[in-house]
Amino acid sequence: MSPSPAFQLTRTLPEDATGAALRADVRHGLTRSPKTLPPKWFYDARGSELFDEITTLPEYYPTRAEREILVARAGEIAAATGARTLVELGSGSSDKTRHLLDAFGELTTYVPVDVSESALRGAARTLLDAHPALDIHALVADFTGALALPATPGPRLVAFLGGTIGNLLPEERTAFLTSVRGLLSPGDFFLLGTDLVKDEETLVAAYDDAAGVTAAFDKNVLAVVNRELGADFDPAAFEHVARWDAEREWIEMRLRATTAQSVKIPALDLAVDFAAGEELRTEISAKFRQDGVRSELRAAGLELAKWWTDGADRFALSLSSVPSP
Ligand code: AVJ
Repeated sequence: MSPSPAFQLTRTLPEDATGAALRADVRHGLTRSPKTLPPKWFYDARGSELFDEITTLPEYYPTRAEREILVARAGEIAAATGARTLVELGSGSSDKTRHLLDAFGELTTYVPVDVSESALRGAARTLLDAHPALDIHALVADFTGALALPATPGPRLVAFLGGTIGNLLPEERTAFLTSVRGLLSPGDFFLLGTDLVKDEETLVAAYDDAAGVTAAFDKNVLAVVNRELGADFDPAAFEHVARWDAEREWIEMRLRATTAQSVKIPALDLAVDFAAGEELRTEISAKFRQDGVRSELRAAGLELAKWWTDGADRFALSLSSVPSP
C-alpha cells in the first residue's frame, strides 16, 4: 500500500541484484592483492544504525558542517535554481532534504533514489506529513549505475550530499559525474557535497573515533559477508585502521588481520588466506579542494556556479549548471 496517492515507487533493481553484486564484489576484492571490499556493503540495518551514530560523534564533523551550509543557503539554492523537481541520489532517510524542501516554494516533485526500499518508504511517510502537497516518486536504484528518471516538471535539481562522492575511486567519480550530466538538461542544476582537505589529525580522528563506533562500523562489513555468504570471518581477529594518504588526498579505512588466518566463504566456494598484519581496504573517503571539484565537474560537462563552505571551511556545497549549447 502506498502511504498516499502522491507516492509512487519504481524498482529498477532486479530482485537478486544485490546478492549477485555482493558475491561478485567479495570474490573480486578478496582474491586480489591488496585485498579490498567496496564501502557500499557497510550499510545493512546495523551498519546504517552505526553510521547514524557516527554522524553524532564529536570527531565526525562532516554531517554537522554540511547541515550548517544547507540551513544557511537553502533559500539561495532555491532562488538560484527555481527547481520544480528535486532528485536526491542516495537519499537514505532524507534527513538533510527537509532543509531544502522548506525553502523551495516552486517545488512540486521529490525523487529520492536509494537502494533501500524500506528507507525510501520511511522517508516518504515522514516527508509527506510536513509537505502533503508534494509528489514523491521514489526510485529503488543504485546511483552508481545507469539511471532513468521519471518524467517530472523542470527545472530539475539533482543533489548528491554527505560527501559520499568521496567514497568513489577517481575513475568511478568520473563515470558517476558523467552519468549525472546525462540526467540534466540546460536550465537544470547539480548540488554536490564534498568534504575538504584539512589537517591530518582532524581527518584521522573523524575516521578513528575514541568511542570506537567507526571501528565497529568498519568491522560490520565482515558481519554482512558472514550473514549473506555464510563466511566465518572473526571480527575480533581484525583491527580498524584509518590512514591519511597525503598524496591522493584521501582517508583509507582498513581492517588489519591481527594473526594469520584462513576465512571460508561457502557461497563462493572460496577460502581466503590472510597473513598476520595483512590489511583489507574497506573504504576510501576522498577530500577535495575547490579547483579539483571545478575541474572534475568541467570534465563531465558541468560548470561550477556557486561554492559555499561552513564557517570553519571544513566542508563545501557546490552548485553547478549545464552550460547552454
Ligand atoms: C558516507 C561519505 C558520509 O566517507 O565520511 C563515515 C562514510 N565512513 N565514517 C564518509 C563514513 C566512515 C562517510 N560518508
